[in-house]
Amino acid sequence: MALMPIIIAPDARLKIKTKPVDHVDAAVKTLMDNMLETMYAANGIGLAAPQVGDMRSVIVVDCARQAENPAPIKMANPEIIAVSPNDNTHEEGCLSLPEHYADVVRPDSITLRYLNENNKIVEIDADGILATCIQHEMDHLEGILFVDHISALKRNMILRKLKKVKKQVAET
Ligand code: NI
Repeated sequence: MALMPIIIAPDARLKIKTKPVDHVDAAVKTLMDNMLETMYAANGIGLAAPQVGDMRSVIVVDCARQAENPAPIKMANPEIIAVSPNDNTHEEGCLSLPEHYADVVRPDSITLRYLNENNKIVEIDADGILATCIQHEMDHLEGILFVDHISALKRNMILRKLKKVKKQVAET
């Protein structure tokens, strides 16, 4: 396994729509494992392939609390097949927008279909923080960031600050 560098916004690679995988082979499995290791190392609860510069439809999540056992879920080609009529507001963050957070409204619970690490089709129901996390990661596969769900004013403020930090890092 290997850690992968995480792309920080604003970056054109975070705005690209990904392509589905044909099937989950050894290469996709390795990508999933590397993404999971990268996510854990960064203290994240979710990571999508475009965040590490890969344009395949792959995400990993683990929303277990600190005291609980790890509960990693590795998905290729995730697809939402049902959403609850109720919405929920969660404060979201993103490893590609470090130190910025905002409230985002999304469906409270979802039913999801995906290919697991063994290339098997799996269907799960998710609610609470897991539902939020999966929807956030699936947005990345469409080139959508959580700041695209908030006002342009707040979004531009966050992206401007991130740009400034990048510039400072580049100059040092
Ligand atoms: Ni994110």
